[in-house]
Amino acid sequence: MVYDSGAGFGILAREDFSELTYSLVIDHPLMARAARPGQFVIVMSHESGERIPLTIADFDREKGTVTLVVQAVGKSTKEMQQHCQAGTTLYGVVGPMGVPTSLAGKKKVVCVGGGLGVAPIFPQARGFKENGAYVVGVLGFRSEKLIFWADKFKACCDELILCTDDGSAGIKGFVSDGIKLAIERHHDIDEVVAIGPPIMMKACAETTRPHAIKTVVSLNPIMVDGTGMCGGCRVKIGSEVKFACVDGPDFDGHKVDFNDLMMRLRRYAKEEKTALDRWSDSCRMMKQSSPEPLDAPLELPDPFDETSGG
Ligand SMILES: Cc1cc2nc3c(=O)[nH]c(=O)nc-3n(C[C@H](O)[C@H](O)[C@H](O)COP(=O)(O)OP(=O)(O)OC[C@H]3O[C@@H](n4cnc5c(N)ncnc54)[C@H](O)[C@@H]3O)c2cc1C
Ligand code: FES
Repeated sequence: MVYDSGAGFGILAREDFSELTYSLVIDHPLMARAARPGQFVIVMSHESGERIPLTIADFDREKGTVTLVVQAVGKSTKEMQQHCQAGTTLYGVVGPMGVPTSLAGKKKVVCVGGGLGVAPIFPQARGFKENGAYVVGVLGFRSEKLIFWADKFKACCDELILCTDDGSAGIKGFVSDGIKLAIERHHDIDEVVAIGPPIMMKACAETTRPHAIKTVVSLNPIMVDGTGMCGGCRVKIGSEVKFACVDGPDFDGHKVDFNDLMMRLRRYAKEEKTALDRWSDSCRMMKQSSPEPLDAPLELPDPFDETSGG
């Protein structure tokens, strides 16, 4: 497999935030110009790679770059972690996809990011600020050593509430505790926007429900085409069925059926584990047989096998 060919989209910089989480700055002037907060791209890291959706975590129109922040959770994201370095390329970056977040007309918003969700909430916090809103940032991490982008948030938030599970920085508690604090301090919040694992977004929606504060969440169901055709990203919103790729990914958190979302996210766990095991075995075998870097395609299952049926 060749990762540093001339074709594709150049990776200009990479930063590792932890053993699992890394950012990639991609040279893509057209995407940088078109991107809006709340949108995502579909990435193929190499010619036979799986198509994976990743949120546009930052964009710089002057420099012509977009930034992705990735958590290595399975085969494709671990493969990218191994191969995507500054100077290499991504084979395909399609987008921007999804409906941009509605930023205008809000006076006071709370932008909530939990763990990896901290990255995708950033363009929204900055966008709200640029649109004249008072922005309270609530960021949650397991512990101090996992914190990233605090400075970027300080630059665009009027207030920043840091929460850590172990109390090593900010307040000890979850982002839902941070939201409670923000609600105590402010009685005029127009909207809460929350991004993170489904269980976290569910907790955020339940925290704001008794206060009747509009709460928007960004859903992350399994996506294949990203164009509304495969049905893979079906989500239940109140009595309606929506496709997160074209109708979202932002939805009213008080209407989302989170249990259905979580059940559907686990649907291909067996196939995902098989793909990861086969990839890890191939890596081990290649390492044993040759000290050279990988340069031949690995025999991997068709990624569409994992999501067929929607
Ligand atoms: C709109 C959207 C934005 C996202 N933004 C980011 C982001 O900015 N950073 C990030 O690290 N992750 C993001 N994700 C999740 C990311 O797409 C998955 O982690 C990735 O596809 C996992 O692939 P894998 O092969 O590494 O892991 P796998 O082992 O295949 O899957 C691990 C878990 O990831 C989820 N997943 C698997 N395949 C897909 C898929 N095709 N689409 C969506 N979820 C999948 C499932 O819950 C699965 O259990 C986003 C997902 C969506 C829908
Ligand atoms: S990914 Fe949304 S319909 Fe296929």
